Amino acid sequence: MSLVPLRTLLDAAEQGKYAVGAFNCNNMEIVQAIVAAAEECRSPVILQASQGAIKYAGLDYIVAMVKAAAARATVPICLHLDHGTDFNTVVACIRAGFTSVMFDGSQYEKAENIARTKEIVKIAHAVGVSVEGEIGKIGGVEDEISVDEREAMLTPVPDAIEFFEATGVDALAMSFGTAHGPYKLPPKLALDRIAAVHEKTGAYLVMHGGSGVPEDDVRQGIALGIRKVNIDTELRQAFLGEIRQQLAAKPHEIDPRKIFAPAREVLKEHIKAKMRLFGCAGKA
Ligand code: G3H
Ligand code: 13P
Ligand code: ZN
Repeated sequence: MSLVPLRTLLDAAEQGKYAVGAFNCNNMEIVQAIVAAAEECRSPVILQASQGAIKYAGLDYIVAMVKAAAARATVPICLHLDHGTDFNTVVACIRAGFTSVMFDGSQYEKAENIARTKEIVKIAHAVGVSVEGEIGKIGGVEDEISVDEREAMLTPVPDAIEFFEATGVDALAMSFGTAHGPYKLPPKLALDRIAAVHEKTGAYLVMHGGSGVPEDDVRQGIALGIRKVNIDTELRQAFLGEIRQQLAAKPHEIDPRKIFAPAREVLKEHIKAKMRLFGCAGKA
């Protein structure tokens, strides 16, 4: 099956009131685990590559691996750029065959973020590629942060609405309490902000930092308008955790395949559980 734009997957998710999992990939085993999970669950799926993943594997390898997986697949697959901050990288991904790009202009003031995001939307939409934008900064897990400081990091609802309406993005990332990386304490989600933005605009909201968010919060977020959930850290933990166990159990093994194959299997099962949680299992 050929790759599909993010918009197609999220339009269906909005209709069905579920979210589609977006899983970060940077090598062959991870790509295979994600697509095998989607096939076994009959789930649509988003494979996303960060700029770091593209630097590690090569843009041509990422596209070739995902296209090879999609060619065999019978479920719809989107290839998405995660946190693209560089104009040239975003355009290179569009040219290389990505069906969706995130432009993360959160480092800029609102007006400049809007202007830069609009430019990307114009280019991407001209060739049928979807765009995710970000307003407000979704950081990493911070130490010793006060309630007031945490509140100040959340995206104000009027800013999110203005950004969404001005840019025409297909999916919207805003800060509502999640963070990238492993949480030291469970996050407190500003569910009211998700609901307010989704109700006023119909925007398809993205949960970044999805690893480690309590299952009930994920379910509530989806009920209120989250349509894409990003997971990376948990995949790293599952994959490397099994590799560590395999190496410990087989200290004399010299065939990498004997180590990677069970790790790929563990990763696949972890992703399947996420697909069931997000409600996208059985939707393809
Ligand atoms: O949001 C960030 C993703 O986890 C990707 O991380 O830039 O280390 O590839 P990375
Ligand atoms: P986690 O690594 O916290 O799962 O976040 C992933 C993410 O948001 C990618 O954009
Ligand atoms: Zn993110």
